[in-house]
Amino acid sequence: MWLIFGVSIFLLKLPSCQTLPMLGSCFVNGIVSPSISRANSVTFCSNADGGSSLLFGRFTGNDFIDIFCHRNSTGGMTLFNMNSIQVLSIARTFCEGGWRLMTADLNGDSNQDLVCLRADGSVSYLLNTDGGTFLTAAEQNINASFTCNKTLIFGDINGDNKDDIVCQNEDGIIHFALTNSSNLATGLFTSQQTFPTSWCNGTMDQIMKGDLNGDGKIDLLCHAERTYLRSALISSGASFEEELFEMELEVCGDENQFLLVRDINGDGYADLVCKSSDLTGTTKIIHNKPGEYFTDQSVRNEFRFCVNGGPTNFYVEDVNRDGFDDLVCQTSIAKRYIFISRCYF
Ligand SMILES: *[C@@H]1O[C@H](CO)[C@@H](O)[C@H](O)[C@H]1NC(C)=O
Ligand SMILES: *[C@@H]1O[C@H](CO)[C@@H](O)[C@H](O)[C@H]1NC(C)=O
Ligand SMILES: *[C@@H]1O[C@H](CO)[C@@H](O)[C@H](O)[C@H]1NC(C)=O
Ligand SMILES: *[C@@H]1O[C@H](CO)[C@@H](O)[C@H](O)[C@H]1NC(C)=O
Ligand SMILES: *[C@@H]1O[C@H](CO)[C@@H](O)[C@H](O)[C@H]1NC(C)=O
Repeated sequence: MWLIFGVSIFLLKLPSCQTLPMLGSCFVNGIVSPSISRANSVTFCSNADGGSSLLFGRFTGNDFIDIFCHRNSTGGMTLFNMNSIQVLSIARTFCEGGWRLMTADLNGDSNQDLVCLRADGSVSYLLNTDGGTFLTAAEQNINASFTCNKTLIFGDINGDNKDDIVCQNEDGIIHFALTNSSNLATGLFTSQQTFPTSWCNGTMDQIMKGDLNGDGKIDLLCHAERTYLRSALISSGASFEEELFEMELEVCGDENQFLLVRDINGDGYADLVCKSSDLTGTTKIIHNKPGEYFTDQSVRNEFRFCVNGGPTNFYVEDVNRDGFDDLVCQTSIAKRYIFISRCYF
């Protein structure tokens, strides 16, 4: 029985679809082929009162990507453990009335920690040291002088396997702070540094993260005017260097499209996923050619998936931990099913 206002999760075991011609067997008329068997389902993250959001990541000490549910207004949290296929209620609240809850691996233990960006720009976190229950963690504010009122990004800048923190404030300045695990208990990150530039500072510009050059460090990509890719800030470990692309690429510029940066083919280089949030559900994969970044020639793999799915309905995650990203769709109709497909690109 499906609860009308619940979220139901379907784990779909798909026949592998390694090549383009086989995509038809995964996606039929824009939805996952009905012939695919349903392995598991669960009601999760009821949306009846609105204001809940989904986060994905490793929370429970294994390689499965779990789904985390956060209620913005109350700070209530539940975790869908993908390994045990069980829902875990978390008997504490965090980030209530907050601007945004995010995940990051701050201490490098491969488990996602929780980070809260509040409306006043302050950033606090809970370390996940107890398998995703967050019962034992003390809430910690990071170095009080680090505030962020525009774009906050977590990623490993220096390649030490711990996520560092990058912010572009409303003044357009990009600043970042490196995590230091011996300081996490006190919230002190190494002193903040700035990257003084007006890079990606237009009102419509969007900064995205991804390892663009395959060196294990997070770089920043500017989706200028939410349309053009012209340059990136490449991490040198200690700072960033601006790199202009040889060819400007127009990508995902329609109003109803949005861009994700993910390593789709598992080669260590971040690729692009452009998704239409309209009735077509058109999803386009643009591969990052090692050494060349994105070129028009690298555009391939276009299919329909997650009709009407917007940025809060569509995710690309390696849910089944096979080393390849899967597509996740939380349908925007009342039942809010989550479909997880398993395809290779
Ligand atoms: C969370 O709630 C605050 C206050 O109600 C609101 O301003 C903000 O947009 C919400 N954030 C999200 C991610 O829903
Ligand atoms: C955002 O942060 C910057 C840098 O800290 C500050 O100059 C600016 O006043 C803040 N803006 C708002 C609206 O809080
Ligand atoms: C970034 O944009 C804001 C808003 O338009 C502007 O006030 C600020 O001066 C810009 N910063 C830089 C470094 O260009
Ligand atoms: C990390 O913090 C410890 C303790 O404060 C300090 O001694 C050490 O130098 C810091 N490491 C780095 C790389 O900043
Ligand atoms: C906290 O941030 C300020 C401002 O960037 C910086 O000057 C200071 O060194 C930081 N404190 C520590 C202990 O990292």
